[in-house]
Amino acid sequence: MAQRVAVGIAGTGSYAPPVVMTNHDFEKLVDTSDEWIVQRTGIKERHFAEASQATSDLCLEAARQALDSAKVKPEELDLIVVGTLTPDFLLPSCSAILQSKLGAVNAGAFDVNAACTGFLTALHTGESFIAAGRARKVLVLGAETLSRFLNMQDRASCILFGDGAGAMVLAPHAECGRGEILRSTLGADGSGYEFIHMRGGGSRVPPTAESVARGDHFITLRGREVFRFAVLRMAELIEKMAEGFPRDEVSLVVPHQVNARIIEAALERLDWPMDKCFVNIDKYGNTSAATVPMAFHEALAQGRIEKGKLVVFCAFGAGLTWGGTLLRW
Ligand code: UT7
Repeated sequence: MAQRVAVGIAGTGSYAPPVVMTNHDFEKLVDTSDEWIVQRTGIKERHFAEASQATSDLCLEAARQALDSAKVKPEELDLIVVGTLTPDFLLPSCSAILQSKLGAVNAGAFDVNAACTGFLTALHTGESFIAAGRARKVLVLGAETLSRFLNMQDRASCILFGDGAGAMVLAPHAECGRGEILRSTLGADGSGYEFIHMRGGGSRVPPTAESVARGDHFITLRGREVFRFAVLRMAELIEKMAEGFPRDEVSLVVPHQVNARIIEAALERLDWPMDKCFVNIDKYGNTSAATVPMAFHEALAQGRIEKGKLVVFCAFGAGLTWGGTLLRW
């Protein structure tokens, strides 16, 4: 059997679209308050795409940054994988549109939909292609335009989400010399598919005037149930990814930005210090598949990742799905 190629992160990028929606903007739309949203979620504002923007446009900005920082040209890419639940169209994929916009003429392209676990699923896929010798340079993204699927009359869901994109260029570690991926895991339990759900628009409930009038295309949540699941799963994932390493070897945990209280509760279960965890949900809300790569890019820019130390990614979401990654920066 051919030897597995060690895979590294050659570059990163992040993009938040220009429209900023504060909690006070939501006070004008639904019966809520800045105080409630900050206390219950940690969110102060989130970014929404402009009317002219769709998910591939957000991807393009993040992808260009990641390629620049990796010093990789679009035509060097062998594969593009976008994790998204809000592609520009149901058909074709967001990745195919991005491939053309980038001029990545030698790349294959496909999307993965694992909801908030979308980026970690794309990362796992890209890593596997390089590790198996099937690709050398892979662009992976998590990107969403969730604002198009929010019910602006449902205060329990509309205040939570934002739009954005995060990207990474993956390459053999021997070439890029940083961000070696040491372990990854993915999991799913589809019996919980109704917990976080967009009922309409697919083959089960195709789009009709009636389904749209019922609001079947909006995201619905069973927030309290997700809360319990999320705390347990996040704690388990961090523990599993960091297993066997002394804690002081871990520079930072970069978790899915789902709710600041969920992150705090998970860390408390592990007795894990908050200063070893990156939280930027106050600025972006929950951007689903985009949270982890956006947060990692920002953490790097802020100098929060120590060279040679470990970083843990963890995420979970609709499906239910979950994933974790351990890397050495
Ligand atoms: O990435 C995966 C997708 N994300 C999720 O699935 C979210 C996970 N869940 C959560 O983050 C939290 O459960 C929420 C933020 C959604 C809700 O927080 P909570 O502390 O679990 O609140 P709750 O659902 O227990 O609701 C408490 C009260 C309720 O009123 P009553 O029944 O006590 O009178 C809600 O109606 O808060 C009310 N409420 C609000 N009040 C003001 C719910 N949303 C709002 C709001 N503003 N936006």
